[in-house]
Amino acid sequence: MTQNTTQSLKELAKRRGFFIPSNEIYGGTAGFYTFGPHGTALKRNLEDVWRDRFTYQEGNMEIEAPTIMPEDVFEASGHLETFDDMIIECPECGESIRADHLVEDNTDIEEAESFSTDRIMEIIEENSLQCPNCGEELADVEVDDFNLMFGTNIGPGDSSPGYLRPETAQGIFVEFPQWKEYARNQLPFGVTQIGKAYRNEISPRKSIVRVREFTQAELEFFIDPEKDEPEMEDVEDVELRLYPINEQDKDGGEVLEMTVAEAVENGVVASDWIAYYLGISKKWYERIGIDMDRFRFRQHLEDERSHYASDCWDAESEVGGDWIEITGFAYRGCYDLKKHQEHSGEDFTVFKPYDEPKTVEKATVSPDMSVLGPEYGDRASDIADELGRIAEEEPERFEEQESISLEIDGETVNVPVEKTGFTRKEVEETGEHIMPETVEPSFGVDRILYTVLAHNLEEDEVDGEERTVLRLPAEVAPVEVAVFPLMDKDGMGERARKVARSLRESGFSVKYDDSGAIGRRYRRQDEIGTPICATVDHQTLEDGTVTLRDRDSTEQVRVNVEELEKSLKGFMDGNDLKEF
Ligand code: GLY
Repeated sequence: MTQNTTQSLKELAKRRGFFIPSNEIYGGTAGFYTFGPHGTALKRNLEDVWRDRFTYQEGNMEIEAPTIMPEDVFEASGHLETFDDMIIECPECGESIRADHLVEDNTDIEEAESFSTDRIMEIIEENSLQCPNCGEELADVEVDDFNLMFGTNIGPGDSSPGYLRPETAQGIFVEFPQWKEYARNQLPFGVTQIGKAYRNEISPRKSIVRVREFTQAELEFFIDPEKDEPEMEDVEDVELRLYPINEQDKDGGEVLEMTVAEAVENGVVASDWIAYYLGISKKWYERIGIDMDRFRFRQHLEDERSHYASDCWDAESEVGGDWIEITGFAYRGCYDLKKHQEHSGEDFTVFKPYDEPKTVEKATVSPDMSVLGPEYGDRASDIADELGRIAEEEPERFEEQESISLEIDGETVNVPVEKTGFTRKEVEETGEHIMPETVEPSFGVDRILYTVLAHNLEEDEVDGEERTVLRLPAEVAPVEVAVFPLMDKDGMGERARKVARSLRESGFSVKYDDSGAIGRRYRRQDEIGTPICATVDHQTLEDGTVTLRDRDSTEQVRVNVEELEKSLKGFMDGNDLKEF
């Protein structure tokens, strides 16, 4: 299904309780969606399967940080300065428009986000682009940067500004000094978090794809780049579809197909850590039902990369003819930890022991504070710190000059070398402090859910009748088994309710339904992707068997109620219904 995918999906989402636009009784709030019962269950299952793969199976630690963080965090992270989209405001009707999307929607340009605001203005003029709301010509209208963070005040008054986090990652980075203790100072280690993030999108669109409040599942994996290597044998044969920068830049550039090992060998993916995560993620996308024929990994163009990333690949899914970014794999290097160390003064390094202790020459100072104190007053301790830094970084200055010239609070201070206690001595060192580098797979849960729905939604025909069916993998289906009585009479209702109760007690997610014709009940379950329906009928009352009906093939088998739990477990583990 491609033509009306988005419309069918929107209708299904509302009809079957996956998601609905929020606050519609008050006119709606663009960019906010409420997940209904089946959407919530599907989302939770996707999160659980993510947790299983990226937290448990990788041996990482999961944390939960606040969604509101103080301004200092985002000053350090660079989000205050650079987390912007391009905005153009229509002078006629006042509509705020995302300028790069205006360009992409009305020209052949695909990645306008990577252009400067000046270039976007030129393109708008060259193509006589108009306001999509009122048709006003937008040539010469200023294109500005618009910061995407939602601001707030922490506590009463405005003395303590805060922001709703634009990525869950910062909650991991700011507490790194604690995580490294929990990891016993041993790299590599990973920290995961699943939670809400917020971006004040200029024009939210495409259903739950571009929204203002969304869920991220992020892993920040901290490595020693000189030493740590991923377990490549786990993924080396995984086939990838890669769309690197050079292919995007070419006329007729193509998506390249190669294994993870080949991608690393050929240098198509520069970091073996990124390649590793592309490999395990590809297998994970297959597990949750994403169609690999409508999927690719696309490398970010240089100008498109976030301020913190030195390389970035997106996993993209195709829905309704559009490519949607569902995960970003960014090599963040030591950008974030270094920034937070600089801004907070805390130690974000990890001690890396040498194989053998090393004897090294060290330059140190021991300033005479009985001289510096009376002479420089409360600046004396800053002067001592600065002398220490110079001894470490430029020791030759103490030997080439008679006095050391320092800048303290904008003033130049000259300290005679003889008062600094400068010496060089040999010391034995057992290791060094290094700043770890970070590899980040960052999954957009809402967009993944949207893709999973779109890629599994099909129309087919059963007994001459059209049906809509959601072919979700059993592991993520909102309801695992639906239980029906053929009719709620002759004891069939009681028996079916007992079956439903017993399956729930065994841990299955069960829907009991006795309303309407049995065919309609099957259709309702097909539309929410329930893999198995169990029907209690007259024969059940005689021989204790129920009918199990497979969603995809619509085949039916009879199973004794006593065996039901075992049979369903077998089915959930991938066995064929016919084997029961
Ligand atoms: N943490 C990556 C992102 O939010 O885009």
